[in-house]
Amino acid sequence: MRVLLTGHLGYVGPMVSQALMMAGHDVTGLDSGFFFEPDGQCLAAADRVGRFPVSDVRDVTAESLKGIEAIVHLAGLSNDPMGELDPALTLAINQTATLDLARCARAAGVERFVFASSCSLYGAAGDTALMIDEEAPLHPVSAYAVSKAECERELAALASLDFAPVFLRFATAFGVSPRMRFDLVLNNLVAWARTTGEIRVLSDGSPWRPLVHVSDMAHAILCVLNTPADIVRARAFNIGRDDNNLTVARIAEIVAAQIPGSRIVITGETGGDPRSYRVSFARARRDLVGFAPRWTVADGAAEIDRWIVDQGLALNDVMSPRFVRLAQLKQHLACGRLDSALRPVRI
Ligand SMILES: NC(=O)c1ccc[n+]([C@@H]2O[C@H](COP(=O)([O-])OP(=O)(O)OC[C@H]3O[C@@H](n4cnc5c(N)ncnc54)[C@H](O)[C@@H]3O)[C@@H](O)[C@H]2O)c1
Repeated sequence: MRVLLTGHLGYVGPMVSQALMMAGHDVTGLDSGFFFEPDGQCLAAADRVGRFPVSDVRDVTAESLKGIEAIVHLAGLSNDPMGELDPALTLAINQTATLDLARCARAAGVERFVFASSCSLYGAAGDTALMIDEEAPLHPVSAYAVSKAECERELAALASLDFAPVFLRFATAFGVSPRMRFDLVLNNLVAWARTTGEIRVLSDGSPWRPLVHVSDMAHAILCVLNTPADIVRARAFNIGRDDNNLTVARIAEIVAAQIPGSRIVITGETGGDPRSYRVSFARARRDLVGFAPRWTVADGAAEIDRWIVDQGLALNDVMSPRFVRLAQLKQHLACGRLDSALRPVRI
């Protein structure tokens, strides 16, 4: 299949381009490169896909999509803190540009549009004794989560016999990627444990979080492309593993078991976190052809720990803009590399 992969230079993107290329797909990447390091430090073999003529999703035209059979749309401001940087910009990039891209895709005859949505749209789910599925009401509590919910609603309205939008509601990611991050809960707790001996939980530890490994996210995308359109058209799928639904306190315990001598410190400084949800992944297991996520949180903690040790990283490395997306964006803005619309400043 000829696939356009947006966001291919992010955390998840390189895992997806690798998986798609290994499966024989012809992949073209489109990314504005917010987290791309020109010195090549993070340059992975997986980045070496064909490049689309424009690098910002806001600039795509229907004409430029001729011949593309599927779009996998990962690009955007990709977590709650970045979404709060400028909610109007989150709306412009995550929502308006996504819907414009989908309309262009439909007009150009693209058959499938795989949208990277998020379990965060369940937000303040209420009773966490229940595992919620894709039919549960949505309670997004951030500009980021609202943008995901609105996109799903409006993309569903674009579905037709020739155009199949599909929404993958990913759990919170973890694991090693060629473009590594430490602003994700498991990656962050392992990094603190390994570099300081302390596992710092900023909330009271009680919120539930479903987690998923980046390579299982890539695997899910591949499975969606292999599943008949009639099964996925205008449908949402939670992506993760049931046994990776854990409280933040339990995640901390798993990290402590991985790194002997480390101790858990519940600082509680961010207070109670309204985002708490336990999610069922039964629909994806049942309906997506071949979908069988492999990674447990314990295996992920061991993998991340090995990577930090192999790279010889200290705390100031793992907390630097290289590995923390919001810090990276703020640095680009502060030194004038990007303007307030997150467009590159040409000097
Ligand atoms: N990582 C997670 O825990 C997680 C969980 C659920 C859903 N998701 C979703 O999966 C997708 C990928 O996540 P990620 O962790 O790789 O994010 P990321 O921030 O690491 O990567 C996103 C990429 O999008 C690019 N981008 C941003 N705005 C753009 C624009 N206007 N035009 C072109 N490119 C642009 C950035 O340069 C970046 O390389 C996102 O849509 C995210 O919301 C991620």
